[in-house]
Amino acid sequence: MKEYKIIKKCRICGSKNLHKFLDFGQMSLANNFLTDDELNRVEARYPLYCLFCANCGLVQLGVVVNPRIMFCNYPYIPSGSGVMMNNFASLAYEVGKRMKFGEKSLVIDIGSNDGTLLTFFKKMGTRILGVDPAKNLSRMAQLSGVPTVTKLFNRQTAKSLVNKYGKADLVLATNVVAHIDDLYDFLRGVSTMLGSRGLFICEFPYVLDLIARNQFDTIYHEHLSYFALLPWSRIVSRLDFEIVDVARLSIHGGSLRLTHKKKSGTRRSKAVDYLVALERRHGLYDVATYEAFAKRIEGLGEKLKLVLGDFKTRGKRIIGLGAAAKGNVLTNFFDIGGDILDYIADSTPYKWGLYTPGKHIAIYPEERVEFDLPDFGLILAWNFANEIMRKHQQFKKRGGKFIIPIPEVKII
Ligand code: TYD
Repeated sequence: MKEYKIIKKCRICGSKNLHKFLDFGQMSLANNFLTDDELNRVEARYPLYCLFCANCGLVQLGVVVNPRIMFCNYPYIPSGSGVMMNNFASLAYEVGKRMKFGEKSLVIDIGSNDGTLLTFFKKMGTRILGVDPAKNLSRMAQLSGVPTVTKLFNRQTAKSLVNKYGKADLVLATNVVAHIDDLYDFLRGVSTMLGSRGLFICEFPYVLDLIARNQFDTIYHEHLSYFALLPWSRIVSRLDFEIVDVARLSIHGGSLRLTHKKKSGTRRSKAVDYLVALERRHGLYDVATYEAFAKRIEGLGEKLKLVLGDFKTRGKRIIGLGAAAKGNVLTNFFDIGGDILDYIADSTPYKWGLYTPGKHIAIYPEERVEFDLPDFGLILAWNFANEIMRKHQQFKKRGGKFIIPIPEVKII
């Protein structure tokens, strides 16, 4: 594959009935943080816009950047967040209620990152195996005792894993499927890996929450699809999975956790019908909903720029809180640069000393906020707003205020 390709037909149903909405123009990759040296080089930018498939309802990007460019060195490490750890713990707990593992059982995590999720299953005394294409992350996982294969997951990878390790009792994929271009190959891979009585659990951000809560900044090159339950249920059912459980989660601004089994003729979960009806009521299968969304985002940008501009003319100092990928989308799309944000404070050591893609805003350890005491903190990682606000007690005591940009501009 070249640097990127243009999508002409829907990834799920093959229809060409695709409607374009929310065009970001040329955007740098949201996780492509830069070193000092890299600041002087030309930064790669790729088109970013959304398509709505009027046939099956899938929202998808119009462009797929080559995954080798995006995922071979990946800065995202979830274990830094308490919210994420709680979500992993709840997932492990749910699974523990449904199935018992023996020492020969096998749990596979696709997109296993630094191995954190699997450590919860290791404690249950089962075999574990991570699969992740990022070398930096799989090395970290190995060091913390989580065996990890450094590969992109697909059907071929699945076959070689089955040959070596046997079939899995549980296959996990949290925040992975949105990144996958060839969903059929991916899901066939899952099917190949999974034993006949095994469970496949996957989590992804829910497009219903994205639209209802203006989360436009979660749209970037890595996230190829934005799933509603209806298109998702179509594709899994074609591949002989049935959805046996559905849960809405608050993680990442709103996600779905879906539990699948290989089809055995049992009736699908009632929760699926309930959510599909809810999606219909929210207009998720209607192009007008997405056009209205794009309009709202334009308005949101104008409002935020107005508020920040007003503080600046009054001589206030503003910083960003959380150098999230979504923050890079927001700052680039709304044109909020180093002239407005002095720097961004972040908890991830990996990001310290680097600069944000596109806007080149410097990133510092979050402790800096406590002695630097700016006037305002724009919470770019709004999905962790509570966790972040709890941390900055000194800042608050001295009159510091938080600005939360999503779903509406709010000052706390
Ligand atoms: P993340 O949730 O990974 O979002 P994205 O997928 O958009 O990158 O981003 C959260 C960022 O916020 C990450 O860089 C860590 C940072 N962070 C803080 O700075 N302080 C905190 O208390 C928490 C929880 C996260």
